[in-house]
Amino acid sequence: MLCGLCKLPALSYANARLTPYADFMTDQLRTSSPPIFEAMQSGHALVVGGNRGIGLGFVKQLLNDERFDQIFATYRTVAAATELLQLAQTQDRLHCIAMDLTEESQIEQGLVELKTMTPELHFVINCVGFLHDGTITPEKALRQLQTDNLMRYFQVNSIGAALLAKYLLPLLNHKKPNIFATISAKIGSIEDNRLGGWYGYRASKAALNMFLKTAAIEYSRRSKQTAIVLLHPGTTDTRLSEPFQQGVPPEKLFPVEKTVGLLMQVLGTVTLTDNGSFFSWDGSRLPW
Ligand SMILES: NC(=O)c1ccc[n+]([C@@H]2O[C@H](COP(=O)([O-])OP(=O)(O)OC[C@H]3O[C@@H](n4cnc5c(N)ncnc54)[C@H](OP(=O)(O)O)[C@@H]3O)[C@@H](O)[C@H]2O)c1
Repeated sequence: MLCGLCKLPALSYANARLTPYADFMTDQLRTSSPPIFEAMQSGHALVVGGNRGIGLGFVKQLLNDERFDQIFATYRTVAAATELLQLAQTQDRLHCIAMDLTEESQIEQGLVELKTMTPELHFVINCVGFLHDGTITPEKALRQLQTDNLMRYFQVNSIGAALLAKYLLPLLNHKKPNIFATISAKIGSIEDNRLGGWYGYRASKAALNMFLKTAAIEYSRRSKQTAIVLLHPGTTDTRLSEPFQQGVPPEKLFPVEKTVGLLMQVLGTVTLTDNGSFFSWDGSRLPW
């Protein structure tokens, strides 16, 4: 069976699992540490890339969730954030912050601005991602590789998230258990790569995974109450997937609301011992 969006063979649950012994150990650890969302009350959440697609879906979902009393959402340009900015005018709990992840100074400044409103965050979901625009489309062959295009994939999909991990640490290093989640993609799994293609997007998601797996190890020393996790959302009906939806069976193309609901279910099971894990939308673990 092929994945609708990336045309990779869908990974079976059995393949995705760890060895039975490792599973047993993981289950033991998971039961000894409660899900982080279980005790969440008066949570402060940040949605990075909250102006459209899956990010805007998370903003709406969190506004309906009483466990979160402050929701911060970033956007890149006012022109592309009309719905988010209008929502903020009617929702006291929602605060919008401008932030382009390819500008380190904007990440730093955006979080300085956020710090004037809250000293700590309890849930961060980074939904920023780039696959195509008017000039860049995913490469099918080596002859299509172009340095500038590759740089763009890495800047948005990988480096931006690593810099977020850098500047978020003081906001996540506090006494309450918290989650820093980033939307990755199964196509970034090196082990699962059987079809090739989409060089820049694929490699930038693999780099994203490595950046955040490495950050998870550092956080385990410097921000002990944080679980950093990566999530594969499944093929979701957004601007990003739109040119590649042809041939995706309707039941495999999730509406944003469904994806967000499924990812919130997965996040609802995340414990501190899951720090540095890569989960699919169905809760299974993906290989790196
Ligand atoms: N949709 C799928 O089927 C699918 C499958 C697997 C993984 N994913 C991943 O899911 C995540 C969300 O994607 P989506 O489907 O919701 O796509 P989308 O609707 O295109 O949203 C992408 C988001 O990233 C933001 N963004 C892009 N470049 C940015 C930059 N330089 N600085 C800050 N923000 C930037 C966009 O802001 P602007 O509106 O300003 O551009 C937008 O908010 C991405 O990481 C994507 O790779 C999606």
